[in-house]
Formats: sequence, structure tokens, C-alpha cells
Amino acid sequence: MDTFTLVLLFLAVAKYVDSANILYVVPFTSKSHFIMLKPIGLELARRGHNVTVITGNRVPNPPKNYHQYMVDEKEIWDVIGGSRPNVFDMVEVTAEEFHHNVLWKGGLAFTELVLNSTEIKTLLKEDTKFDLVISEQFFQEALYVLAHKYNAPLVLVTTFGNCMRHNIANRNPLQLATVVSEFLDVRDPTSFWGRMRNLYFTVYEYVYWKYWYLESQEKLVKKYLPDLPKPVPSLIDLQKNASLILMNGHFSFDASAAYLPNAVEIGGVHLSESDTKLPEDLQKILDNAKHGAVYMNFGSNVRSSELPAEKRDAILNVFRKLKQTVLWKWEDDQLENKPDNLIIRKWLPQKEILSHRNIRVFVSHGGLIGTQEATFHGVPIIGIPIYADQYNNLLQVQTLGYGKILKYSDINEETLFKKLNEVLTNDSYRIKAKELSIGVCFGFLLEPRPPGA
Ligand SMILES: *[C@@H]1O[C@H](CO)[C@@H](O)[C@H](O)[C@H]1NC(C)=O
Ligand SMILES: *[C@@H]1O[C@H](CO)[C@@H](O)[C@H](O)[C@H]1NC(C)=O
Ligand SMILES: *[C@@H]1O[C@H](CO)[C@@H](O)[C@H](O)[C@H]1NC(C)=O
Ligand SMILES: *[C@@H]1O[C@H](CO)[C@@H](O)[C@H](O)[C@H]1NC(C)=O
Repeated sequence: MDTFTLVLLFLAVAKYVDSANILYVVPFTSKSHFIMLKPIGLELARRGHNVTVITGNRVPNPPKNYHQYMVDEKEIWDVIGGSRPNVFDMVEVTAEEFHHNVLWKGGLAFTELVLNSTEIKTLLKEDTKFDLVISEQFFQEALYVLAHKYNAPLVLVTTFGNCMRHNIANRNPLQLATVVSEFLDVRDPTSFWGRMRNLYFTVYEYVYWKYWYLESQEKLVKKYLPDLPKPVPSLIDLQKNASLILMNGHFSFDASAAYLPNAVEIGGVHLSESDTKLPEDLQKILDNAKHGAVYMNFGSNVRSSELPAEKRDAILNVFRKLKQTVLWKWEDDQLENKPDNLIIRKWLPQKEILSHRNIRVFVSHGGLIGTQEATFHGVPIIGIPIYADQYNNLLQVQTLGYGKILKYSDINEETLFKKLNEVLTNDSYRIKAKELSIGVCFGFLLEPRPPGA
């Protein structure tokens, strides 16, 4: 055997030995979750691991070592029962109601859908061995039991930052003084009332979650995975035994918190400077926006076209008064009285738009992914929170000084114009956004790289 062959053989063996069989459990169908979770699975595959994915989002033309097992196709609203509500109606929903009617109800129904899905049942019957189970942490705790099934370490990954459940899973202190419950909208978290509300809600959430929700998840484990090696650890013990938790947070943005070394902030993992290009027509529109452009998009779950007529008209009248070009994600073919400076599309490539130098402000619902994209590109935000963690994300933006919150119920011609005008004309928002953007980039450089990176 000559040296060259020997080296090749050695490399081949080294590659084989280095790669692991990884089960990646990210079943939740929400597009915004998958935007952040997709690059992790694909990157592991790119680095030579054999990645098996339980997912609700099919990646087209995946690498050959990225194996997808799909959740049965069903709309989340079919799973919960009932039809898709107008999401704008959720503005008035309390954190308690949101947990009972959406998160917990939906979480249980969805977990059952996953465990009862044809392809996933097939996977679980096969005699595959896994070296590692990476699971999303989002109201599908029953699936953590797969770490026990395959006798593999469990890594958790979340699409949002610090919260009570992460800290419990982590054995990290709760830090209620700085960490506000992720789905709670407290106007002033550091006031006495704000702290009381946060304390009350955290206790409420903990009691329901631990003694009712996790018990219900345990029942799903017993129903769908009756043949697990005994003794089967409880879901709470499985979580506490997680080897690592990857969180979609970043110290340059989040409220201060102390983390044990098993918690790693990977906020912005889905971001990159050089992505695909803007489509030619949008590139031209933005290049030609002499006075800059306003970009408005309420994300994948909220449809602007469902806005009540009076709010829609107020928004159109404000856009008409602006000299800036406006891009708006509008999901209908028609929009009556559309001003000339407004361009509507059913879908808009957000990352690429936000990276254009002429974007002056992002009018957003405050979803974490979009907020991170704007932060990364140094774009100020006018935030209109609708539900979930949106209020908290935007409060952070406002506190850091690169944006303003406009309450949905307060939207009218006067309020929207005032906020837009302020953010467009007062340079302090833009400067703060740019500062943070640099901070965020810097944060990445300082972040320790994983071994082998
Ligand atoms: C890679 O994963 C697939 C799907 O789980 C499995 O069928 C296959 O046996 C795995 N390959 C190796 C080399 O373990
Ligand atoms: C599980 O899936 C089967 C079809 O594969 C369906 O008939 C059954 O109703 C499902 N069970 C539940 C509880 O959804
Ligand atoms: C905790 O994890 C270790 C290694 O990952 C494993 O050996 C052990 O069985 C786990 N214990 C529980 C209760 O899950
Ligand atoms: C611009 O906004 C900042 C922050 O809200 C404020 O302190 C400053 O006074 C504003 N400047 C002008 C000229 O309005």
C-alpha cells in the first residue's frame, strides 16, 4: 500500500469515526420556528453526521445523510379543533388564557399528532441506534423520552431566549428579578406591580405545567410508547438530565441573566451576511427609493389582510403621506385605495429586504426571528405586538432605544404617523440600531466556537 492510499484510508476512517447518528426532533410545523432550527440540522449533516429528523417542514433536495420523517399533514387549527381564528383577535388575550387555549391545548394535541404520525411510528419501530437526541423544547416534552428509548444523551434547543421552563430544565436559578415570563406582557417589569405579576404568573405556570401538563404528556408516552425499557424516567427528570440547552437568545439583546455552562446562547444562528440576492424587481424598487423605504410585515402567522377596515384605512392614509417607498406583506390580490408609493406582495424575502441599505424602519409584530433579523442589520423597529412573546421582544427593543411600541388598539392615522415620523426623522433610533448591530456581530466573534468548527 503506498502512502497516498494509506492517508486516504486514514481520512476515511477518521471521518467515519467522527460522525454520529443524531436524532433531531423538531416536529413543530410553525415556519418561524423552523427558520431557526433548519440550519442546525443541515449544518450537522454538512459536517458528516447521519441526521434523522422528525419534522413538520420538509427540506427539498436535502443532503443524502439528512433523513426526514414527516409529521402527518394537518393545520394546527384542525389539531386543536375549530378553524383558524383572526389572529388580531388575540391582542386582548391574557397570558393565562393563551396558555390554556393555545399553548397547552395545542401542545397536547400536536404531541399526539406527532406520536401518531405514520412515518414517525415507522421510525420508532425500526431498530436504529442513535448517539444523540436533540429535541426542541416547545410543549412536546413527551418526545424527550426518545433519549431514554435510544439510551442517548439529550440536548434541548429552543427558539426563544431565557424562561422559567428552560431554567428548570437547566437546573439554573430562576432569576425572576430580570427574567420576565416569555408570554407575559407586563408594561413595566421592574415596577412593584410588574414584579408581582411576573411572580404570580410564574407560580401559576409552574404549577399547571408540572402537575397537569407534564402529567398529560406522560400519558401520551404510555399510550404511544408502551414498550420502553423499564424503569422509564419521568419527563421532569429527563429534562433535568439534559446535557446541554441551546437557546435562541443573545447577551447583546436579552435582559441580564446568569447561565450555568450547560446553557449556550445561539441567538442569530440563522443569520448571515451574504445570503441569496433580492429578486430583481424588489432590488430595483429599493435601489430607487430616494427617500428610503419602510418595510411592514406581520410575520407568517398574522395576516395583514385580516385587519379591520378602519385600521387598514388608517395605515393606508399614513403611507400616502410618506415620501418613502413602502413594502407591505399583504396576502390578498386586491387592496383598494392603494397609494402609489406602496408595493404589496403576498410574500416578501425578509432577511434580504432588511439587509438593503435603504430600509429606514421595520413595522413589525415583534416575532423574535424578525426582531433578530432587524437587529442584525441595524434597522429600527416600530412594533405592534399581537400575541405570545412579541410584547416582550419589543419592550426590549424600546428599552434599548432602537424602536417604539405602538399598541394595536391604539392604531389610528394620528398615532401611527407620529411614531413613524419620529423614528424616520430622529436619528437616535437609527444610530442605536447600528450600534447594536455592531454589538451583535461582535458577540458572534467572541462566542466560543464548538469543537471542530
Ligand atoms: C442513518 O440514518 C438512517 C435513518 O434513520 C438509518 O436508516 C441509517 O441506518 C443510518 N446510517 C448509519 C450509517 O447509521
Ligand atoms: C391516529 O392515526 C390514525 C390513522 O393513522 C387515526 O385513524 C386515528 O384516529 C389517530 N388517532 C388519534 C388519537 O388521533
Ligand atoms: C442521564 O443521562 C445519562 C447520560 O446522558 C444517562 O446515562 C442516564 O441514564 C440519564 N438518567 C436519566 C434519569 O435520564
Ligand atoms: C430623539 O429621540 C431620543 C430618544 O427618544 C430623545 O432623547 C431625543 O430628545 C429626540 N431628539 C429630538 C430632536 O426629538
